Amino acid sequence: KVLILDFGSQYTQLIARRVRELNIYSEIHPFNKIPSNIEDYKAVILSGSPFSVRGEEALHPDLSQIRGKKPLLAVCYGAQYLAHFSGGEVAPSNTREYGRANLSFIQKGESFFSYINDGSQVWMSHSDTIKHLPKNAVLLASTHDVKNAAYRIEGEPTYAIQFHPEVYHSTDGKKLLENFLVTIADIKQDWTPDSFVEETVEAIQAKVGHDKVVLGLSGGVDSTVAAVLLNKAIGENLYCIFVNNGLLRKNEFESVLNQYEGMGLNVKGVDASKRFLDALAGIEDPEKKRKAIGNAFIEVFDDEAHKIEDVKWLAQGTIYPDVIESVSATGGPSATIKSHHNVGGLPDFMKLKIVEPLRAIFKDEVRRVGATLGIDPELLGRHPFPGPGLGIRILGDITAEKVRILQEVDAIFINGLKEWGLYDKVWQAGAMLLPVNSVGVMGDERTYEKCVALRAVESTDGMTADWVNLPYEFLQKTSNDIINKVKGVNRVVYDISSKPPATIEWE
Ligand code: XMP
Repeated sequence: KVLILDFGSQYTQLIARRVRELNIYSEIHPFNKIPSNIEDYKAVILSGSPFSVRGEEALHPDLSQIRGKKPLLAVCYGAQYLAHFSGGEVAPSNTREYGRANLSFIQKGESFFSYINDGSQVWMSHSDTIKHLPKNAVLLASTHDVKNAAYRIEGEPTYAIQFHPEVYHSTDGKKLLENFLVTIADIKQDWTPDSFVEETVEAIQAKVGHDKVVLGLSGGVDSTVAAVLLNKAIGENLYCIFVNNGLLRKNEFESVLNQYEGMGLNVKGVDASKRFLDALAGIEDPEKKRKAIGNAFIEVFDDEAHKIEDVKWLAQGTIYPDVIESVSATGGPSATIKSHHNVGGLPDFMKLKIVEPLRAIFKDEVRRVGATLGIDPELLGRHPFPGPGLGIRILGDITAEKVRILQEVDAIFINGLKEWGLYDKVWQAGAMLLPVNSVGVMGDERTYEKCVALRAVESTDGMTADWVNLPYEFLQKTSNDIINKVKGVNRVVYDISSKPPATIEWE
């Protein structure tokens, strides 16, 4: 496996993904927390960073366990770091160097640049530049503005590049990583969804043995893939609980439950709609609604978990982005792992031991693992849906009648997207029920009814998003269907706000 030391670059996760796309397993660790089992890593990559090596706050880890001992690739800040602290010189650049550039003067005969030719486009993002290379360095490539764009250190397997091979716009970036990892570091490309499933199943068996495990299914991709993996490993010792909080999509509870049963999962469906609606009665504030829904879920899940005799483990669908410790703005790694201060007050199921079979993989890898496991592609391709469900799409207080209206509207919108072949082009879509009535006219009657907003966004991770340019004909048909078929709605609007400054959900 490959170790990526993170100096806080916005692209660090991309490095990990590119490496994994080469079927090589990689892990991200904060720059100042080199894992104690460093001998298990076959190569190390240093990421970029928002910091300057010249600043007082320069991140300056001790690499003596790595340098010269393992193949090392230093990217951007990493390249400047190697230069600055090993006899070279880094200075502010005269022109800011951002965006596209083309490699020139690539040294011939270097395996690092095999199959990469002069003119290859690379992506730059830095304001410091390497004026003088460090001791024993051999210049490998330049660009028009950056003389020292790539170098290696004579006598050790250490390579450094000023550009970012991990971004899409570095056309040969993946080839470069392959040259480094496969040709130079001699790493096998054998990390595939199949091998992941095999290893994970063995690891789960070794970890939980014949103990019973409980897992909460949500209908989403992560919990479903986690359940199928666990089911493969421990069979009927896996107890799945699927709670209907009354805020799911129309018919979702029944249809997803059927699907789960069809997949051979030992799943119990618990219809707790009334309990959630009672807990939500009269609450208008979005955060209070989230809290009420979260608390009701914990109570229901705890009740159900208690019914399973002698259960020892709680399984969760946590994925890698939730696990990576981020390097904070002050340069210190900020722990993202939550500590439970109040153990005495926790519900019993939260005192169970935790098993998280997906904690090493990214979302797209979860989908690929799911496909390997034979999970229905339609289920794997589902849009994300928030835990509090329609509860945060009904603005203001929630009633059973409002839930019914929104379920109808949402179903027409989502089914329409599928029928028009638009569903897979959209990252997430849904409808919001607004807390306003407006005047309309139907037949000869004046109406005074609800307004709904449709929202469809494209995104990669939900952190930023843009509204989707859906065809007018589709919007026209959908609006018509909604107003004609859903009693209580007489107006439909389409949300054309990006995130930021808006958010995806309205609450
Ligand atoms: P926002 O509205 O913050 O949403 O732009 C970003 C993504 O997060 C989802 N979301 C939630 N998911 N519990 C969840 O499990 C929540 O309380 C919650 N709020 C927002 C949202 O659907 C989108 O995918």
